Amino acid sequence: MQVRRLSLTNFRNYARLELDLPGGVILLHGDNAQGKTNLLEAIYFLATTRSPHASQDQQLINWDAMTADEPVIVSRLVADVLRPDEPRHLEMRLIVEERGNWAGNGSGGFRREALINRRKVRLMDLLGQLRVVLFLPEDVDLVTGPPANRRRYLNVTLCQVDADYCRELAAYNKVLEQRNALLRRMAEGQTRNAVDVLQILTEKLIEPGSRVLQRRARFVTEMAYQAQEIYFQDLIGGKESLRLGYLPGWYTNGRKSSSDQMSDGEWLQANQDEQIIHERFAAELAAARSADVTRGSSTVGPHRDDWAILVNGKNLGQFGSRGQVRTAILALKLAEINWMKAATADVPILLLDEVIAELDLHRRAALLAYVAEQVRGKGMAQALLTATDPGMFPQDFLTQATSLRVEGGRVAIDVG
Ligand SMILES: Nc1ncnc2c1ncn2[C@@H]1O[C@H](COP(=O)(O)OP(=O)(O)O)[C@@H](O)[C@H]1O
Ligand SMILES: [Mg+2]
Repeated sequence: MQVRRLSLTNFRNYARLELDLPGGVILLHGDNAQGKTNLLEAIYFLATTRSPHASQDQQLINWDAMTADEPVIVSRLVADVLRPDEPRHLEMRLIVEERGNWAGNGSGGFRREALINRRKVRLMDLLGQLRVVLFLPEDVDLVTGPPANRRRYLNVTLCQVDADYCRELAAYNKVLEQRNALLRRMAEGQTRNAVDVLQILTEKLIEPGSRVLQRRARFVTEMAYQAQEIYFQDLIGGKESLRLGYLPGWYTNGRKSSSDQMSDGEWLQANQDEQIIHERFAAELAAARSADVTRGSSTVGPHRDDWAILVNGKNLGQFGSRGQVRTAILALKLAEINWMKAATADVPILLLDEVIAELDLHRRAALLAYVAEQVRGKGMAQALLTATDPGMFPQDFLTQATSLRVEGGRVAIDVG
């Protein structure tokens, strides 16, 4: 997969950008705060309909445009995507109307529109049109940050390749919202008809919830395999073992100690039969029912789950050194590439932001060799790397790459 042309209007510090991109390796270099990360973010946003940061989408709109005296402000991202099948013209619009509202609470009058081949589609339909693997320096947060980061990673990654997963997740979240609203009312003592409605909403959670669980368990198992291969061969040389574990949230309802979480996760990874998961999830929901009513929210289910990277059997988030965390995240991202290739029969676009600077020489070489290997001889592959100093890259890597200079929201091709 390749982005052949990228057009940005009022996106971050790009007032207007028209950029033709070749295939293969592209190196974006320039000083800090010039727009390198913003460019990767634009491509990521088109692929996932999300910013890599959990921040509000309105912040993506160019500030100067926001202060202009216009009734409607539009930020536009457009990409021409080359794929093994038909090429696609993808567009995303961030629109601010009712300016007064926007300044007030940050959400009034803001909407997003998605278009494929110039036709309006649902936002969700954009997923899978363009697939990326993004690596940011702050991705260490994936290991050390809160579980919400890790769930977000699962959801964004899976939604890029599996539209069914995304649908089930949306269905689950919708019922969950209704159930939580009901539980809140029950916790406040409004119990008229509540027990019957709670029963209905609980049953409605089971189907989409167990599908989400099943798909995630499979994903973690598949990724564990890929990550282990990469960790061993390319990065560590076989000294440490790396595992991934899914941690179901049903231990958090107080009935179980946290030492059970891993065995529950292993249970889930080993039992990916839909019926078995269905029954287990139904039983856990039933067992958590009185706790849910007391707390006024749903305490078990995929929205409370977590996953962990285990190095030599220990949870990296709790025991890992910073270097180990960084290496494991790198292995995870490289595994993601392989996983996506296997799942879609196509190579995702690699977006690697400032990763080189953070790595020691050995890992730097391993990573660049891996990237070059992914891209070489494969007609459709593309990788975008950013760096402040191209001198960090070995010469033979640079001669293969197209070098672009980013300066103040403009991009120029390097000559010579
Ligand atoms: N909505 C926005 N409108 C205009 N400029 C923005 C917006 N959001 C961020 N910026 C600017 O973009 C620049 C950061 O760009 P970034 O891509 O992170 O730089 P780098 O080249 O270091 O990766 C900063 O100068 C920041 O102030
Ligand atoms: Mg940057």
